Amino acid sequence: MRVVLLGAPGAGKGTQGERLVKKYSFPHISTGEIFRAAIKEGTPLGKQAKEYMDKGALVPDSLVVGIVSERLQQPDCQEGFLLDGFPRTVGQAEALDEVLSGKGTPLNAVISVDADQGELLERLTGRRVCKTCGATYHIRFNQPQVRNVCDKCGGELYQRADDTVETVKQRLDVYCRQTEPLITYYQKKNLLFSVDGSKEIAAVFAEIISKLEGEKPA
Ligand code: AP5
Ligand code: MG
Ligand code: ZN
Repeated sequence: MRVVLLGAPGAGKGTQGERLVKKYSFPHISTGEIFRAAIKEGTPLGKQAKEYMDKGALVPDSLVVGIVSERLQQPDCQEGFLLDGFPRTVGQAEALDEVLSGKGTPLNAVISVDADQGELLERLTGRRVCKTCGATYHIRFNQPQVRNVCDKCGGELYQRADDTVETVKQRLDVYCRQTEPLITYYQKKNLLFSVDGSKEIAAVFAEIISKLEGEKPA
C-alpha cells in the first residue's frame, strides 16, 4: 500500500505513522525526520535545511524532491510506503506523481488528518520526542510511564527546536498557504480520505484503518 499522511503541524501524522507502520510493516518516510537526522549528523543537507526549519519555513522543493525520489527507489519501498509530511506543496505533489507513474505504482490513498486549529498549539508546545528512537509523546495527552524517559527504548525525551510558540504559529501559517491546497488536489484525483484528528489517538487510528480497508474516499 502506498499512502500519504497529510495534515497540519501537530495533527498527529507522526503519532499515527508510528502505529500504521507497526500494522502494515511498510517504511515510514518522514521528511522532517530525514532533515532532523541530517542536522544531528551535521551534513551539508542538514545545514541547509536547518536555516528554513528554524524559521518555520518550508525547505525548498528542489532539495526535498530529490531526497524523497531517491528514498522511494530503495528496496524496502517496493511493496509500499507511508509518506509523512511529504508532499507539502503542489510542486512536490506533481513531482511525486511523476516519480510514481514512471514506476507504474501510483498512490493508493491520501489520509488527511483534520485537526482542531485551537488545539494544535497546545499539542506542539507540549510534545516531547525520544532522542534515540524518535517516538512521540505529549506532557498531557500521551505521557510516557516515567517522566522524560521513552517507554520503547529508555531514551531521553527532548523538545523539538521548532516547537516554540513563535515558530509553531509560523508553521501553521505556512501550512494554510502552501500545503492545504493539496486537499483539493487529491480530492480531484479521488484519493483523499479525511479523518477527524481531534479525537483520541486510538480513535483516530481506528478511523484511518477503516478508511484504508475498504471505504470509498470521503
Ligand atoms: P515535520 O517534522 O514534518 O513537522 P510538521 O509537519 O510541522 O508536523 P509535526 O511533526 O510537528 O506534527 P505531526 O502531525 O507529526 O504531529 P505529532 O504526531 O508529532 O517538518 C518539520 C519541518 O521540516 C517543516 O517545518 C519544514 O521546515 C521541514 N520539512 C519537512 N518536510 C518538508 C517538505 N516536504 N517540504 C519542505 N519542508 C519540509 O503530534 C503532535 C503532538 O500531539 C504530540 O505530542 C502527540 O503526542 C500529540 N498528539 C497526536 N495526536 C493526538 C491526539 N489525537 N490527541 C491528543 N494529542 C495528540
Ligand atoms: Mg511529525
Ligand atoms: Zn525511544
